Amino acid sequence: MKKLMTLLCLAGAAMTATAQADDGVATYNTYCMACHGTGIGPMAGDKNLWQPRLDAKGGVDGLLASAKAGLNAMPPMGTCMNCTDEQLRAAIVHITTFK
Ligand code: HEC
Repeated sequence: MKKLMTLLCLAGAAMTATAQADDGVATYNTYCMACHGTGIGPMAGDKNLWQPRLDAKGGVDGLLASAKAGLNAMPPMGTCMNCTDEQLRAAIVHITTFK
C-alpha cells in the first residue's frame, strides 16, 4: 500500500511537470477547442480568420487582452478562469500557429 501511494505521488509529480511545460495545447484542448475547434469561434490554425485579428489587435499580446476581457460570444478568459496570462498566451499562440 505504501508503495502504491509512492507511485501515485510520482505520477502526480510527473503530471504537474507536464502542465508546467505547457505549450498551449493542453489549455487549448481543455478550454478553447469546444469553440475554436468546431467553428463556433474562429477555427484554430486558419490563417484567413486569424491574420486579420492579429493585425487589428497588434499581435498576440493584443489578442491576449481581448481574450481576457471577452468579445461578443467569446467568453472572458475563454472560460479558463484559473488560467494565467502565460497559459492563455500559449493557447493563443497555438491557435494562431498556421500550417
Ligand atoms: C464559448 C465559445 C468559446 C470558447 C470556449 C473560447 N472562445 Fe475564443 N472566441 C469565441 C468567439 C465566438 C470568438 C469571435 C468573437 C468575435 O469576434 O465576435 C472568439 C475570439 C477569440 C479571440 C480573438 C479576439 C479578438 O480580439 O479578435 C481569441 C484570441 C480567442 N477567442 C482566444 C480563446 C482562447 C485562448 C480560448 C481558451 C482559453 C477561447 N478563446 C475559448 C468563442 C470561444
